[in-house]
Amino acid sequence: MRLAALLFAPAILMAQPSTSHHGVRLPGSFFAGNRARLLAELRKLGPGTVAVVKSMPEQARNGDSTHLYRQDSDFYYLTGVEEQEAVAILDADSDQPYRLLVRARNASREAYDGPRLGTEGALKAGADHAESFPGAEQSLKSAVQRARRVMLICNFDDDFRRKVIDWVLPQGSDNNHATYQRTLLDGRNLIGEMRLIKQPVEVEMLQRAVDVSIAGHLAAMRATARAVNEGEVAGAFEGTTRGLGARFLGYDTIAGAGRNSCILHYPFNDQVLEKGAVFLMDAGAEVGYYTADITRTWPVSGSFSKEQRALYDLVLKAQDAAIAVCRPGRKHHEGYDLAMRILSDGLVDLGILKGDKAEVYKGGTWSRFTLHGISHWLGLDVHDTGSYHREPGAKGGQRLLEPGMVLTVEPGLYIPKDAKEVDAKWLGIGVRLEDDILITPEGHRNLSEKLPRKPEAVEAIVKEGLRAKK
Ligand code: GLY
Repeated sequence: MRLAALLFAPAILMAQPSTSHHGVRLPGSFFAGNRARLLAELRKLGPGTVAVVKSMPEQARNGDSTHLYRQDSDFYYLTGVEEQEAVAILDADSDQPYRLLVRARNASREAYDGPRLGTEGALKAGADHAESFPGAEQSLKSAVQRARRVMLICNFDDDFRRKVIDWVLPQGSDNNHATYQRTLLDGRNLIGEMRLIKQPVEVEMLQRAVDVSIAGHLAAMRATARAVNEGEVAGAFEGTTRGLGARFLGYDTIAGAGRNSCILHYPFNDQVLEKGAVFLMDAGAEVGYYTADITRTWPVSGSFSKEQRALYDLVLKAQDAAIAVCRPGRKHHEGYDLAMRILSDGLVDLGILKGDKAEVYKGGTWSRFTLHGISHWLGLDVHDTGSYHREPGAKGGQRLLEPGMVLTVEPGLYIPKDAKEVDAKWLGIGVRLEDDILITPEGHRNLSEKLPRKPEAVEAIVKEGLRAKK
């Protein structure tokens, strides 16, 4: 199927069976709606305001190879276009408010890389006007230089960013022209705030990503019994999710046993499994550009040791408490405070930290073992856009939760091998539990709740893999 047709026939594609998500995309009306909202914001700024939105540049990998191309999330949110070297111009004053500048068709390149949109595809993709490079460069420059206000939405293309800055604010004086009245605006916060509140079709896509990722986590847990290396467990997740339609991972899979479970973004996933260790996997698949972000911890052997289970129970209690306060009107940071108090007190109960509970909590020594915050927004990006400190009037400037927000809740405890002050029986145990939570008008919905967290259930899944081995 032609790329343009693939992109803009999503209403049909969305009707695929729930277990297969190959090729799903959000409908063209979603992207048109997002552009309409941005155009309304441009109108509020006054006549002569245009937004220029840049696609993700291609990234070199090594000789004659590039990284698998994935569109910039802001560009995708506004256009649905998955192609590199594209620029969108949004001009509220124009009778052609959405102009899309794209690569020219090129038969010999397309024989290698697949079909390009070209101007015809760009029009089918919803543009009111389309041009192709290199000719489109002059149109872009004119649009920028004619505008009074230029809102740039460009995350990763530094050459493009510098070029637009140079057009808006050229070097030299205004003696001859008396026309240099342009203002440059960064539009990323505006789009970021739009992206923070998910629309129903986005929630549906996130649920798909989560469901695929749950299947991947279950496959990885079951594969642990057969595996001798961390890479086989990571591979079970990645193979399963790819097979179900996830073309990308939302981030590199983190899959480590024992000492490696204590490395937050452990990148290697290639060590031999220690039989008595815990396995920590933080992995999320991307479906239709939306990603899950889920972490589970399980025993390689199928049974937690006494110490592993004690730390697991503590993290689970902290996570339950933090999830319980995911409701409209509660502060985003509230869950963190509750979880850290539970973890701090629990570390004293287990003898890992010593002293009076209130004093230990106040002193903050627990942070040596908790290491990180417990929540971020989730959506097109694993660390999705939107401010955490915005709501006017809220105490401490903390953002209040609102329906449509999606966030992770992910406390952890990590007792590294070099924690010499801790009894050796605790060393090399890292536990993190992470779920994806949608804020609803009534409270919340845990999108990943179908992936078991109760320790007995987790052990049972790993043991299924053991039985399958015989
Ligand atoms: N799950 C990876 C991260 O949140 O950084």
